[in-house]
Amino acid sequence: MMPSLSNSDELIFFVNGRKVIEKNADPEVNLLFYLRNVLHLTGTKYACGGGGCGACTVMLSRYNSKTKKIHHYPATACLVPICSLYGAAVTTVEGVGSIKTRIHPVQERLAKCHGTQCGFCSPGMVMSIYTLLRNHPEPTPGQITEALGGNLCRCTGYRPIVESGKTFCLESTVCQLKGSGKCCMDQGKESSVSRQEKICTKLYNEDEFQPLDPSQEPIFPPELIRMAEDPNKRRLTFQGERTTWITPVTLDDLLELTASFPKAPLIMGNTTVGPSIKFEDEFHPVLISPLGLPELYFVNSTDDGVTIGAGYSLAQLNDILHFIISEQPKEKTKTHHALLKHLRTLAGAQIRNMATLGGHVVSRPNFSDLNPILAAGNAIINLVSKEGERQIPLNGPFLERSPEANLRPGEVVLSIFIPHSSQWHFVSGLRMAQRQENAFAIVNAGMSVKFEDGTNIIKDLQMFYGNVGPTVVSASHTCRQLIKRQWDDQMLSDACRWVLEEIQIPPTAKGGMVEFQRTLIISLLFKFYLQVRQGLNEMDPYNFPDIPEKFVSALEDFPIETPKGIQMFQCVDPHQSPQDPVGHPVMHQSAIKHTTGEAVFVDDIPPINQELFLAVVTSTKAHAKILSIDTSEAMSLPGVVDVIMAEDVPGDNNHKGEILYAQHEVICVGQIICAVAADTYAHAKEAAKKVKIAYQDIEPKIITIEQALEHNSFLSVERKIEQGDVEGAFKHVDQIVEGEVHVEGQEHFYMETQTILVIPKAEDKEMVLHLGTQFPTHVQESVSAALKVPRSRIACHMKRAGGAFGGKVTKPALLGAVSAVAAHKTGRPIRFILERGDDMLITAGRHPLLGKYKIGFMNNGEIKAADVEYYINGGCTPDESDMVMQFIVLKSENSYSIPNFRCRGRPCKTNLPSNTAFRGFGFPQATVMVEAYITAVAARCNLPPEEVREINMYKETSKTAYNQTFNPELLRRCWKDCLEKSSFYVRKQAAEEFNKKNYWKKRGLAVIPMKYTIGVPMAFYNQAAALVHIYLDGSVLLTHGGCELGQGLHTKMIQVASRELNIPSSYIHLSETNTTMVPNALFTAGSMGTDVNGRAVQNACQILKERLQPIIRKNPKGKWEEWIAKAFEESISLSATGYFKGYQTYMDWEKEEGNAYPYFVYGASCSEVEVDCLTGAHKHLRTDIFMDAAFSINPALDIGQIEGAFIQGMGFYTIEELKYSPEGVLYSRGPDDYKIPTVTEIPEELYVTLVHSRNPIAIYSSKGLGEAGMFLGSSVLFAIYDAVTAARRERGLDKTFPLSSPATPELIRMACVDQFTNMIPRDDPSTFTPWSINVS
Ligand SMILES: Cc1cc2nc3c(=O)[nH]c(=O)nc-3n(C[C@H](O)[C@H](O)[C@H](O)COP(=O)(O)OP(=O)(O)OC[C@H]3O[C@@H](n4cnc5c(N)ncnc54)[C@H](O)[C@@H]3O)c2cc1C
Ligand code: FES
Ligand code: FES
Repeated sequence: MMPSLSNSDELIFFVNGRKVIEKNADPEVNLLFYLRNVLHLTGTKYACGGGGCGACTVMLSRYNSKTKKIHHYPATACLVPICSLYGAAVTTVEGVGSIKTRIHPVQERLAKCHGTQCGFCSPGMVMSIYTLLRNHPEPTPGQITEALGGNLCRCTGYRPIVESGKTFCLESTVCQLKGSGKCCMDQGKESSVSRQEKICTKLYNEDEFQPLDPSQEPIFPPELIRMAEDPNKRRLTFQGERTTWITPVTLDDLLELTASFPKAPLIMGNTTVGPSIKFEDEFHPVLISPLGLPELYFVNSTDDGVTIGAGYSLAQLNDILHFIISEQPKEKTKTHHALLKHLRTLAGAQIRNMATLGGHVVSRPNFSDLNPILAAGNAIINLVSKEGERQIPLNGPFLERSPEANLRPGEVVLSIFIPHSSQWHFVSGLRMAQRQENAFAIVNAGMSVKFEDGTNIIKDLQMFYGNVGPTVVSASHTCRQLIKRQWDDQMLSDACRWVLEEIQIPPTAKGGMVEFQRTLIISLLFKFYLQVRQGLNEMDPYNFPDIPEKFVSALEDFPIETPKGIQMFQCVDPHQSPQDPVGHPVMHQSAIKHTTGEAVFVDDIPPINQELFLAVVTSTKAHAKILSIDTSEAMSLPGVVDVIMAEDVPGDNNHKGEILYAQHEVICVGQIICAVAADTYAHAKEAAKKVKIAYQDIEPKIITIEQALEHNSFLSVERKIEQGDVEGAFKHVDQIVEGEVHVEGQEHFYMETQTILVIPKAEDKEMVLHLGTQFPTHVQESVSAALKVPRSRIACHMKRAGGAFGGKVTKPALLGAVSAVAAHKTGRPIRFILERGDDMLITAGRHPLLGKYKIGFMNNGEIKAADVEYYINGGCTPDESDMVMQFIVLKSENSYSIPNFRCRGRPCKTNLPSNTAFRGFGFPQATVMVEAYITAVAARCNLPPEEVREINMYKETSKTAYNQTFNPELLRRCWKDCLEKSSFYVRKQAAEEFNKKNYWKKRGLAVIPMKYTIGVPMAFYNQAAALVHIYLDGSVLLTHGGCELGQGLHTKMIQVASRELNIPSSYIHLSETNTTMVPNALFTAGSMGTDVNGRAVQNACQILKERLQPIIRKNPKGKWEEWIAKAFEESISLSATGYFKGYQTYMDWEKEEGNAYPYFVYGASCSEVEVDCLTGAHKHLRTDIFMDAAFSINPALDIGQIEGAFIQGMGFYTIEELKYSPEGVLYSRGPDDYKIPTVTEIPEELYVTLVHSRNPIAIYSSKGLGEAGMFLGSSVLFAIYDAVTAARRERGLDKTFPLSSPATPELIRMACVDQFTNMIPRDDPSTFTPWSINVS
């Protein structure tokens, strides 16, 4: 029933100090939409829409009339309904500071510390740090890390972001050489790097930073204080198109409303309701919002416990619990401690500040981190309704949603009572998630046990598990059976058996990981068992023996530390001109614009008159005939202008095998079938849901590589390289090892989803596109083919992309053409912004890989022969799969010289979305197998893997397997430096000692060498052009064919132009890349952006300089401006194109030889981890990276690339996991179910050294470093392998076990076989269809 309301109230709130009065506030509109589309404040970004990424972080400030205090907190604007903002002040990045007025120290420091690359996450980062500083002007490093836990960054690897935050801390924890020239890592020895030149470690100059002056912050609007204090406040109602929002003013008012609208949800933090509306299509005609209602905010402490108002946010709950703990004896606060532990990692800071205690308890998510603890702690829910008050226990029946234990219609949670614990009572919270913070638990638990006083006889036991079923589950039967039992090993053993019988997870359970979850159920129980044993011992050591020393470390979860590190690079030659920026760690050209939100991304371009929004309809079948497409209902919906499909493509709907709109047949889930164009995105999306498509399945449906091999389904021919006599060599080796390695795919997860703006021109079929792409020429080609219009009419503009990583090489061409067809058909501009879920579904990512090896070796570890095969899952269309396979075959030897070597590979055609380029282009997958067989050989020879690596590493000038000559001197230098400077052997020894003393935690180290190549083995792909104009005031406009993706390419190009023209960088402007200024430019990929474009820019500048020479000679002391004026007078052209023909690379696949790559990049990294054998969690303790950078044009940017790639690689090898159904449906479509590293995953210590050398072939003797760091992330994978091997060795298990990537917690836990993994029920795979499958 809709309420009978005639008028809507005015919604009043403030944004950046300005009053907003919204007369037509629509309850369905969120703050992010309102800021971006109504107020045109586009600094706040969209990247997920579900609270999971932090890109949309803003600061909300509210005045509390009871406490007279202003509460500032971070919030994700995508989950804040505007109607909840009545009386609030919103601060966005624009309100913090701006280039036009004054930039804020937070913005300045984030930029100057190189904490931005693409800049898409930067406004969110600024807001998180800014909000923290508003509450804590001198934060601790721990608070910085905590504040950033909810903000994802895909570029930087977080280290510089944290560092920028740490500059506000009183204690400085960043080690710098402090001008001494000697680093604390040197440990008294001369550095091998410093032998040759002076090392620098300062990437920025702290002295430049403006001080933070909290008194300068904007004041809270006094009008809002008056509004909050108004004694005559009344109920507010906001009536939208479909929904009514009501804000009650008193508790009685609220109860009236809940009685009248018993089905209406109460909107508090909106962190449960919001995502259900957005992602699960829930609809509520009435929303009631008691947020801020004073009666829901109180704390009442008694002797028995504490009652906490339901309205408090989880962040406030955290503060309240801390306060109580400080007041009460420890024995009374065990439940509080358990809750606090989980509150630290539950979601990110933004969600914790929005989500409320009441909302959390009532929404009862099955993954709840708090409810199991509250239940185990015997918490009580205080309810109130018009009928009166009542209490219900927050226990099993309530959590399991038993109807008799539910809230009654009209009831509201007033507060939660948390009883104190007692002396012989233990409460604990346990949890395991894919990522330490901001990830739903895979399994969590709340457990409590009460003993008969003075004994270990169980009086009461409670165990609640989360995420093992549709609700939180109580193991009540098991607990009852254990009453009166002693807390001993026999009890534990029975408890484990019984709990596994009681909590049964079916093999087909949603989420998969079934055997892992079963193992966790009892592993967590074991942890609790140990904790309690330790607690008993602390109380009565005489009667209750301590747990074995070796078990102690099992008790604690890994602590969250603030990362630290040092970056070392060559100092600039002191004789270099001070004006010359080459070699200096110059800040990214757009960094300040990134941090102020003034950098314009495609969707920040203001609305174009008449523009339409596009929403696509994608296939739900992997392989099927399209029987019919019914668009009639969609067309009849408001705002819909047209539905575009294959028939509407005037030209090529299938350009070089890439299909724009599916016609007759679909070949993967996620293939675009048609697109709805409408006046708003909401209308387009709504209509897209109403397009009805009838399918008929077609066989076969090929999802995995194995299936493709069965069906002989390939995308291209086999690629092969062979040297020596492989078969012959196998006959003369001591041993042969064979194996298979599976490496799963990876999602790019660039923060800015693919976004396209197409503007059709009135004349000559011209069309202008704005998009974030790595390859504007390809977009132009694809659009021109689709529209049958010459390329000269299609202009593609690319200013910047919010991350790309290979994902914006080919896909923007397809999406651009889809949009261009829509623009052509409707004759109107089209804005096409992919939602995160669609982006992940449609655009695919890194190729999953299956590798098979047969290795022949001698007992001393020397490998004599290798026969390796690679297959990659290419998906349904060619894309770049063949090229990826070429790269795999050519690069797969990595650093090892194997005299008899055969490598073959072929991309498989499957019914998955087409996989594409991704940083490293196959190398990061393929070389996992190389390092895996090295590890396998080492195990067989009983040698440490690093020794086998060294034995087989290239030692002198040699030829690759495809006959390219190279000198591995720098490879060996990086390797040696890495071993030495990381103190590898000392730490390995220490890890072994640690492992001897700890049964359930193990440490592992690995050091991995790398020989990487840049560019492509086709000369014409390496060409580049630039265009340089000098204007009469002396200013320079620089354009080149490369794209700015966050890597700082434009910054480096300005550095090059500055040196070449001998003018300050400030004279040079670089606006964008576009196809009209530089035609036919090739993709910006393969680490060669600076190499090739730099040469082109250099060429253009040298041409201009040459032309100016006569004038300069005549007036050598003249100024640049004078020379330019004179040149113009003398009719000298002040515009020049520069050109670089490209490296003359080639590959002859017939002869299996070539000069495939211009040069090699070498590196080595050493990582150390600690693994929790009971949960599968790992802690990344330290990484040392040595990268041969030759001469770094910009050490800050190069180190940024290395660190960012390393962390992206580490994510790929450890926690990023794409989940597909057996039917080929991608489940992981957002940050909730695809976990990229956050600030808690990065190494506690990270040391990066740029090894200085010479590379005469490249500009200024530099090297391309964009991708190389990615593979070094595998040192974490192999360190994990080392740690797991230690565990297995101790348990008497086979040292070798199948190594695959990613080494997820599941893989780690299940490899650490023990009594618990042996206890769990196993399912016969032939009897069920699993929820998800591996596709490698
Ligand atoms: C990105 C993200 C990450 C998350 N990560 C985690 C995590 O790691 N661990 C975890 O445990 N949880 C996690 N959550 C879930 C989060 O804890 C809950 O969504 C949150 O606690 C719900 O509180 P809320 O105030 O936002 O509820 P709302 O969404 O406002 O309301 C939820 C429900 O509770 C009802 N309700 C609210 N208050 C009352 C009341 N006083 N009386 C009666 N009914 C009421 C409403 O009617 C509604 O049905 C995450 C959520 C998000 C969005
Ligand atoms: S867009 Fe709001 S959190 Fe991701
Ligand atoms: S700089 Fe953080 S996502 Fe690009």
